Amino acid sequence: MKSVDRPRIDTLMESERATFRRRHAQSGQLAADAKRSLLFGVPMNWMTRWPGDHAVYVDRAAGARFRDVDGNEFIDFCLGDTGGMAGHAPPVAVEAIANQARKGITLMLPTADAAWVGGELARRFGVPYWQFTLSATDANRCAIRWAREITGRPKILVHNWCYHGTVDETVATLENGRTVARKGNIGKPVPLDQTTRVVEFNDLAGLEAALKDRAVAACLFEPALTNIGIVLPDPGYHAAARALCTKYGTLLIIDETHTISAGPGGCTKAWGLDPDFVTIGKTLGAGIASGAYGMTGRVRELVYERTDARNADVGGIGGTLAGNALSLAAMRATLGEVMTDKAFEGMIALGERFEAGVRGVIDSRGLPWHVVRLGCRVEYLFRPDAARNGDEAAAGQDELLDPYIHLYLLNRGILMTPFHNMALMSPATTAEDVDRHTEVFGEMADELFQS
Ligand SMILES: Cc1ncc(COP(=O)(O)O)c(C=O)c1O
Repeated sequence: MKSVDRPRIDTLMESERATFRRRHAQSGQLAADAKRSLLFGVPMNWMTRWPGDHAVYVDRAAGARFRDVDGNEFIDFCLGDTGGMAGHAPPVAVEAIANQARKGITLMLPTADAAWVGGELARRFGVPYWQFTLSATDANRCAIRWAREITGRPKILVHNWCYHGTVDETVATLENGRTVARKGNIGKPVPLDQTTRVVEFNDLAGLEAALKDRAVAACLFEPALTNIGIVLPDPGYHAAARALCTKYGTLLIIDETHTISAGPGGCTKAWGLDPDFVTIGKTLGAGIASGAYGMTGRVRELVYERTDARNADVGGIGGTLAGNALSLAAMRATLGEVMTDKAFEGMIALGERFEAGVRGVIDSRGLPWHVVRLGCRVEYLFRPDAARNGDEAAAGQDELLDPYIHLYLLNRGILMTPFHNMALMSPATTAEDVDRHTEVFGEMADELFQS
C-alpha cells in the first residue's frame, strides 16, 4: 500500500492556499472587516476551523449548491453539518415558513402544526410522546434532566469521542480508563467524572461495569458514532446495550440528530432499536431552529408522576421560543413534503453511489484509507480498515491531510463537512454532483500520492 509523502503536503498546501486567496478576495475583505466587531472575526467560534485563510462568505444557496460572494459556485456535501440536509431553501418549506412568519412567529401558545409534527415523529421513530426545543443540544439536555428526575441518579454515560452538542455532561473523553474533560472543554462547571462516565463504543463489558453500581441515570448514545468518522455498531451491540440498561434500571436515550441519515425514522426504525427517549434536531425544520425529544408511554407515566405542574416554567426544562409557531410550521413542511420516505430512497441511493465512487478511487490506487456509509451519510477515514470505536477512529484523523483535502475540494467547488471527511446527500443532490466529487477526489489522490 502507498503512503503519503508528508513533507510534500506542506508544499501542496501552500499552492492550495494561494489558489484560495485568488478566488476569495471579497470573502477575504469581509473576513477582515468582521474582525472589528466579532470575537475571533466570526459569528461562531468553530468557523475559524475552516481550511484556507478564513471562512468563505455565502451569497446564496439553493438545493445542494451555493454561490459565494466572489461568484464561485459549490456543490455542498456539508449541508450545514445536517442543518441543511433537506437541501437549501426547499421551496415548499420556504413558502410555509414565509406564510407562518406573516401570521405570527412566537406566541407562548400552540398552533395546529404542533400535534401534526408530534404524530409524524411518533410514526417515524416509534416513540409516541414528544416535546419541542430549538436545538438538538437542548433536546438532549431535556431528556437528561427527565432521566435524572425519574431515576434519582446523578450520572450520564456516553461513548468515547461522542458529540451530542454543548451538553455539559457529554464534553468528556476517556484517558487511560478515566473519564476526563475533553480537550478544549471551555469552562467546565465541575470535573467531568462527577457527572459522567465514558465507555468505548462496542464495548459491552465496559458498559456493564459502568452501569453495575446503578449510579447512571441514562446512556446517551448515537446509534453509530458520526462525529469522529462513522463508527458502526457490531452485530447485536444495541440489543445487548438495551438489555444492560434494562437490567440496571438506566434509561436509554438515542440521539438521531445525524443518524437520521439511515432513513426517515433514523437507525431507531431502520435497525429496530428500543430506546426510552429519542432526541433529534438540526434538519427537522429545513434549518429553522428546531429540535425535539420523544419518549415511550412508560416513560411518560414516570414523567407525569414526577411533574410539579405549578412550577413547570422554572423547573430547568424550558425555552421561551421552544415550540414556536415558525419552528413548527417549518418542521411540518419539511417532514411532510421534503424529507419524505420517498426522498430518503433517492438520498440513500446517492449515498451508495458516493461510497462506490470513493471506494473505487481507494482500491484502484491502493490507498491506505477506507470509506463508511450510514444511509445517505458517507465518510472516508485515513486508516485501511473500519474503526470499531472512538479511539480507533480518532487515530485515523490526520491533522495534515484533513485540511489539505478540504481545501483541495473547496478550491474545485466541493464543500465537505469540516473537521472530518463527511458527505451528506440531500433530496436535491444529483448523481452528477456525486460523480464530480469522485472525479476530484481521484485527482487529489493522484496528486497526493505521486511518486
Ligand atoms: C449527534 C449530535 N447530537 C446533537 C448535536 C447538537 O446539535 P446542535 O448544535 O444543533 O444543538 C450534534 C451536533 O453536531 C450532533 O452531532
